[in-house]
Amino acid sequence: MSSEKNNNKGTFNSNFGFLMSSIGSAVGLGNLWGFPYKMGMGGGFAFLLIYVLLVATVGYPLMVGEIALGRKTGKAAIQAFKRVDKRFTFTGYFDTVAPFLLICFYVVFGGYIIKYFLINLGDFLNLGFGLQGMDSGAFFEQFMSSGLEPLIYTYIFLFATFLIVVRGISGGIERFSNFAMPALFVMLLVVVFRANTLPGAREGLAFIFKPNFEVFKGMGWLSVLGNAGSQMFFSLSLSSGAVIAYGSYLSKSADIESNGWIIPVADSVVAVLAAMAVMPAVFAFGLEPGGGPGLLFVSLQTVFQSMGATGPIFGMVFYLLVLFAALTSSIAMTEGAVSAMLDGQQERGKEPNRLKMTLIFTIGAFLGGTLVSLDALGSSGMPHPFGLSTWLDVFDLGAEGILMPLGGLFFSILLGWFKPGILDDEVALTGPFRSRGFYQFSLRWIAPVFLFFIVIIQLNAFFGFFPM
Ligand code: TRP
Repeated sequence: MSSEKNNNKGTFNSNFGFLMSSIGSAVGLGNLWGFPYKMGMGGGFAFLLIYVLLVATVGYPLMVGEIALGRKTGKAAIQAFKRVDKRFTFTGYFDTVAPFLLICFYVVFGGYIIKYFLINLGDFLNLGFGLQGMDSGAFFEQFMSSGLEPLIYTYIFLFATFLIVVRGISGGIERFSNFAMPALFVMLLVVVFRANTLPGAREGLAFIFKPNFEVFKGMGWLSVLGNAGSQMFFSLSLSSGAVIAYGSYLSKSADIESNGWIIPVADSVVAVLAAMAVMPAVFAFGLEPGGGPGLLFVSLQTVFQSMGATGPIFGMVFYLLVLFAALTSSIAMTEGAVSAMLDGQQERGKEPNRLKMTLIFTIGAFLGGTLVSLDALGSSGMPHPFGLSTWLDVFDLGAEGILMPLGGLFFSILLGWFKPGILDDEVALTGPFRSRGFYQFSLRWIAPVFLFFIVIIQLNAFFGFFPM
């Protein structure tokens, strides 16, 4: 199969734009509320070493493979897999359904973030729609389960995503990412600086960085490896459509190998900076470290409220940066699926219609997002399938628990065993493929074994078959 030219879905104007969009896809809620806590609980600096090792041995080869698959075929996941090996077309479907499941809860948190930006603005300007001294835990519970209000914010976030994606690659996604990602980075540095100049911040730094080998004792190392691995896989947005789609919009003169390591390195740097922003602040105010929504919407809001007059300013900066992180991820999810749907139209001999496909995807996300929002993290009393406790978990089980790790497993089996070397010529278009030996070895021996392990770890995380 020879290299194909990109079809008429659009292209990135520059390699920088590709990088900003891809890093934007990778940097998301995973970095901000998953990583700091997991690093702290998983052995601190020891966890970081394992994480980096996994990024290098599993994340890098998969990233290079996904970018190359997209660029070589000029197609999003479904057609890309089909062109390389018909028997693996189903993997493309996995990668296309996964972002649809992810966005159903991502938009709800995106909505909460808008609300929290606004309450800090309200507190700052004394406008009466701030928190004004209310307990942030009680406020979050009340807001989240108030029905209409969080729903409206969910729709606003979803609509913003729609507006960007519908403008296409260079005019929408690239343009927004080129502005949002550098801005995010600067805001993150501001918050890191402020958090670490708070009295008592050192304890938080100790929580994240203190090497702790105790947690590796007995079977402990297995759970550290599992947590680091699932985190890495989710954080790099692998096997969820976006990377392959973005690769298909990348210029033939761009160097896939260097992009393949810059994206994971940037994502890891932001994750560590996020940890350095969040945990020192949490410890400075004597709060319990934790992960998930409680960290972002309760602990950190408590921090901003306790900071005095400048609190709302830092609150605004912080929630705006989280908003950019979430938006660049939600547009990547949307594009991953929309791009595959546009391919589908072309296969059927139709003119690809971006507006129509984006609208269809958005309506799906609207329905799923409505369900997750009204469920209010399980406190609604709605029934939840599979014995899970929230609708968020139901969608997350489908994506992070099943489709994504299986998609990664089959992708590495395809590239390691069925068609080794099939993408090498694409990577070598701009010069010698220096890491080829390492890439091939990893995709054959390390990645598949590891992803099989992640499938089991993930299912266990949802269903608790055995303690970890
Ligand atoms: N990497 C994102 C985060 O850390 C989540 C994510 C997973 C994602 N798969 C994706 C984002 C696909 C965009 C596209 O939050």
